Amino acid sequence: MSQTDTAPSVYPVPADFAARARIRREDYERDYAAAVADPDAYWGRIAQRLDWFKAPTKIKDVSYHVEDFHIRWFEDGELNASVNCLDRHLATRGDKTALIFEPDDPATPSQRISYRELYERVCKLANALRHLGVQKGDRVTIYLPMIPDAVVAMQACARVGAIHSVVFGGFSPQSIADRIADCGSKLVITADEGLRGGKSVPLKENVNAALKMPGTDSVETVLVIRHTGGAVGMQMPRDRWYDAVVDSQPTECEPERMNAEDPLFILYTSGSTGKPKGVLHTTGGYLVWASYTHESVFDLREDDIYWCTADVGWVTGHSYIAYGPLANGATAVVFEGVPNYPTVSRFWDVVDKHQVTIFYTAPTAIRALMREGEAPVKKTSRQSIRLLGTVGEPINPEAWRWYYDVVGEGRCPIVDTWWQTETGGVLISPLPGATDLKPGSASKPFFGVQPALVDANGALLEGATEGNLVLLDSWPGQMRTVYGDHPRFIDTYFKTYPGMYFTGDGCRRDADGYYWITGRVDDVINVSGHRIGTAEVESALVSHPLVAEAAVVGFNHDIKGQGIYAYVTLVAGETPTEDLRKALVAHVRKEIGPIATPDFVQWAPGLPKTRSGKIMRRILRKIAENAPDQLGDTSTLADPSVVKSLVEERLVK
Ligand code: WT7
Repeated sequence: MSQTDTAPSVYPVPADFAARARIRREDYERDYAAAVADPDAYWGRIAQRLDWFKAPTKIKDVSYHVEDFHIRWFEDGELNASVNCLDRHLATRGDKTALIFEPDDPATPSQRISYRELYERVCKLANALRHLGVQKGDRVTIYLPMIPDAVVAMQACARVGAIHSVVFGGFSPQSIADRIADCGSKLVITADEGLRGGKSVPLKENVNAALKMPGTDSVETVLVIRHTGGAVGMQMPRDRWYDAVVDSQPTECEPERMNAEDPLFILYTSGSTGKPKGVLHTTGGYLVWASYTHESVFDLREDDIYWCTADVGWVTGHSYIAYGPLANGATAVVFEGVPNYPTVSRFWDVVDKHQVTIFYTAPTAIRALMREGEAPVKKTSRQSIRLLGTVGEPINPEAWRWYYDVVGEGRCPIVDTWWQTETGGVLISPLPGATDLKPGSASKPFFGVQPALVDANGALLEGATEGNLVLLDSWPGQMRTVYGDHPRFIDTYFKTYPGMYFTGDGCRRDADGYYWITGRVDDVINVSGHRIGTAEVESALVSHPLVAEAAVVGFNHDIKGQGIYAYVTLVAGETPTEDLRKALVAHVRKEIGPIATPDFVQWAPGLPKTRSGKIMRRILRKIAENAPDQLGDTSTLADPSVVKSLVEERLVK
C-alpha cells in the first residue's frame, strides 16, 4: 500500500498543544458565533488590543451594494501604526529582540535588533523623510532586499503618514516604473545591490533604468542604502546615500496622528485583466487584523522565535513580518537568503541556529525540498519548532504529510492559511489548538469571516459541495480601494456576484464544513505562490516586434504549483527559431521580471477564437495540460482547424 492509503485523513489537535493554546475548540466556536452575531461589539473589543490616540466609537460601517458602496472600520479612531509596533513596547520589551537578521551567506554574522534599537532606527529615518519633504499622504516606493532596513523603511513611512509601496526586488525596471507612475511616488528607498543565493541583484541599477522611463518624474529623491558595497551609478542631487542623510537625525520622532481609515500602504498585485492593481490598505482595520490573526493563528507566546520566509515585497511579508509580529511585540527572523543556498539544509540550519519555534513558508518551497529527500532535513535538530504554517497556494496532501512527518516529526500542527493581498491577513485557517487538521484543507473561517460557495449564477450552494468562493460580509483587514481607480475595485470584486466579495478562487466544502481551496478560476496564474496575470505576460510578449499575438495559460507544475505556458503567433513572414524562442523568454523576464518567465513557448500559426474574436483559453488550457480529449465543444470556433495543429505541435513537458 502507498503512504496515502495508510496515512490518516484527520490529525486531531494534540492534547498537550490544546492544553496550552490561546484558543481552544470551545473558544473558537463561541467567538466565531459572537463575531458574526454582533460585529460592532466583537471588533470594538478586539480593537482595544491597539493603542489609539483616540479610541474608535464607530466600529463597522459597510455596504457591498454598488449603489451605496462603502467599507469603513473604526472610522472615528485615531492611531499610528509605528507607535503600535514600537513605542508601546519600549517600557516592557525595550531590550527584547524585535528582529533577527540572518544574511544570505551563513558566514556573515547574524544581527539581533532590539525593540529600542528598531525604534531609534525608524525614528531617524522618519525624521529624514520629513526633512526631505515627505508629508502625510505622500507615496514612497521601497525597492529593497530582505534586510531589516526594509522593515525600518515601512515603519518610518507609517510614522510620518506616508503611504509605502513596496516593490519586490525581483521585479524589472519596467515594473518599478509602472508602479511609481501609477501612484506618483515622491521618494524611492533602495540599496546598492541585493544578495540572493550568492548572486547579487542590481537594485540601484534597476532603479536608475526605471527612472529614465516615462511617468516617473514625480520622484524627487532616491535614498540608497549601502548593503553589498558594490559600485553603483549615483545621480546627484537626486540620489542620496542613506547614511549621509539619516545618521545625523534625532532618535525621537513625533508620529503623525492618523485616522483609522487613512491609507497605510499600497501593494500592487496581478489581476485577470490589465496592469497590476494598487491594492490599498488603511491603518486601523489592517493593523487590528494583522496583529490579531498573527497572535491567534500562530498561537503566539512571549518567548516565541517566529520565522516567516516570505519577502516583504509580498503581502505575507507586510502582514506577517513587518506589521503583525511587531504589533504583537514578537521576535521575528528576517532572512535574506533562499532555501537551497549554500545547501538544501539551509532552512533547518537557520531554525537550529536561532531556535525558531514557529515556521511559516510556502508549499512550493516544501515541494522543492521534499524532492531532495529526508537526509538534509534529518541531519538537523528542529526540536525548537512547535508550529508550522503554509501560505500562498493549495498544498497537496503528499507535501503536507512530508512537512508534518519529516520536518515536524509528527509533533507540530500545520496551519494552512488561505488569504489574499486583498484580504490583508488570514481569513481561512486552522487555529492550532482548536481545529483538527486535514491535509490539503485550509479548514475553517477565522472569527467573523463568512465564506460561502456560489454557482456560476451567484446562487448560494449549501452543504458539502464545490463552487466559487465568496465572502458574504466585510472584515477589518479588507482592502478599501484600488489606488486611483475606485470603479475598478467595485467592478473586480463586487459585480460578479452582487452583494458579495468574489475571491477569484474555486473551492470545495466537505461534510464537516472544511474549506478546500482548489485554485484560481480567473485568468490569474499562481506560480510558486505568486500571482501573475495572463494579460500581463501576453502584453509583454506582444510588445516584442516579431510577435503578432499571444495567449498565456497556466498548467500544473510539480514544484511551482502552476507554470506559464505561452502560445505565440509571429508576425507574417517570420520563421520560428530556437533563438527567437529564447529571445521571447528573455524579453518577458526583462519586461516583468524572472517570476514571469514562461516555461513553454509554443508557436501557434493561429489561436482558437470565437467568431467574435475572443480567444478560447479553456481550449488552450486543455492543450497545455495534454488533455486533448477534454477540449469540449469547439464548434463555436471561427476556425476549428487551428486546434488540431496546436494539439499536434504541443510541447512535451
Ligand atoms: C491567492 C492570493 C496570501 C498571501 C500570499 C498570496 C492562493 C493563498 C492559499 C492557501 C490555497 C491559497 C489563492 C488566493 N492562496 N493561500 N492556503 N491555499 N490557495 O497572496 O498573491 O494575493 O494570492 O493565493 O488562489 O486567491 P496573493
